[in-house]
Amino acid sequence: MSTPLRIGIAGLGTVGIGVVKILRQKSALLEARTGRKLELTAISARSKSKDRGVPLSGYAWEDDPVALARRGDVDVFVELMGGEDGPAKAATEAALDTGKDVVTANKAMLAVNGQALAARAEAAARVVRFEAAVAGGIPVVKALTEGLAGNDITRVLGVMNGSCNYILTRMEDAGLTYQEVFDEANALGYLEADPELDVGGIDAGHKLALLASIAFGTQVNFAGVELEGIGAVSIDDIRRAGDMGYRIKLLGVAQMTGRGLEQRMTPCLVPKSSPMGQLTGGTNMVVLEGDQVEQVVLRGPGAGEGPTASAVLSDIIDIARGTRLTTYGQPAHTLVPATPARSATPAPYYLRMALEDKPGALAKIATVLGEAGISIDRMRQYTHEGPHAPVLIVTHKTTRSALDEALAAMGGTGVMAGEPVALRIENL
Ligand code: NDP
Ligand code: HSE
Repeated sequence: MSTPLRIGIAGLGTVGIGVVKILRQKSALLEARTGRKLELTAISARSKSKDRGVPLSGYAWEDDPVALARRGDVDVFVELMGGEDGPAKAATEAALDTGKDVVTANKAMLAVNGQALAARAEAAARVVRFEAAVAGGIPVVKALTEGLAGNDITRVLGVMNGSCNYILTRMEDAGLTYQEVFDEANALGYLEADPELDVGGIDAGHKLALLASIAFGTQVNFAGVELEGIGAVSIDDIRRAGDMGYRIKLLGVAQMTGRGLEQRMTPCLVPKSSPMGQLTGGTNMVVLEGDQVEQVVLRGPGAGEGPTASAVLSDIIDIARGTRLTTYGQPAHTLVPATPARSATPAPYYLRMALEDKPGALAKIATVLGEAGISIDRMRQYTHEGPHAPVLIVTHKTTRSALDEALAAMGGTGVMAGEPVALRIENL
């Protein structure tokens, strides 16, 4: 008879309670699948007296998550508190130092401190696993680390923040402004306590940095992610992009280029007809491209109690089965520092501008683009709004630096009304 796997959980919020419920409700199934009992022994949260809707009196309680991590009756420390450092990091370190494996859903901690934690785990012959940290219920970490391990990964793309996708979808469906939908989403509790983590692209950037590390064998480098949130996306651009056959998504892209590692989490246009273009509401999608497999598309719930707890359980089950995977898919000491690419891979761009309605205005803009070496693919001028003509241009592939040069020169033409909007179009 195998010995039980003893589990300690720090953090009994949405995800933590979800994990407790699965451990309580599916004990026979989990034992059948692992050949061992999964036994929750100890728990920790800020408030001991809070009613969490699940009986918890049968588990040892610790006020201090570090004390929980050090307990002798815990084999696996499950960190579900959150936060880049503070108690989450201190308790994770304490767990590793006292011989525990660690499972966490904390993308912020791993995106910033992951390399040091992975090295610490390796030195202690322990594992740190984080399936739940990226795209909630979608098993994307496993897909990259295991299922696609025989591929050279060429590109990783994804919509990895459900709140941003919800906001963008709702703006389009209801014809509401960003601020109106942001306020609504915030009131409904769809956003993080610090909403900037969502709408600023930071949360999704953390996730992208984690996937890039596994995909390209590089040390996780969140600071190298080009970040731009969705706060400046207007309902006008959502509508106009739609007219040209696109939808706007907060899209993450990671690829290794001859110029270094490119990591971007920015609002981009994707074809409406593509799987990413069809993604609505809070759902996530990750596209993995490899030299052998070509393209794998994973779609599912990126957050919530059940989906995220499901991912946490998958890591616990691995540990119970004796499947010991390194944090980022290869030993931490073999991960190489990532050199960030200074410039993004050339792409087509969507440009929206308002022009003074006078002869030759459009010709001046076309000339500026031509002088910067940018070729126009498609163009549309709308019925005038007062003295101004709204104009959309879709360019052929160009570099961001050529585009910036053209945008700067447009200001000097004397025909622009206001600032132009430029958004990258990502081929899928
Ligand atoms: P919650 O805010 O719902 O829960 C956090 C829990 O941590 C609470 O139980 C809280 O205690 C406890 N806690 C916070 N600080 C301390 C501390 N200093 N000592 C002890 N306990 C503490 O968070 P979530 O469950 O939503 O998220 C947990 C982790 O999972 C985060 O890293 C998050 O990014 C990640 N995640 C969450 C997803 C989701 O859908 N919610 C999806 C994917 C990842 P108390 O209840 O007493 O206040
Ligand atoms: N009427 C203008 C032109 C179009 O011919 O260039 C934009 O104002």
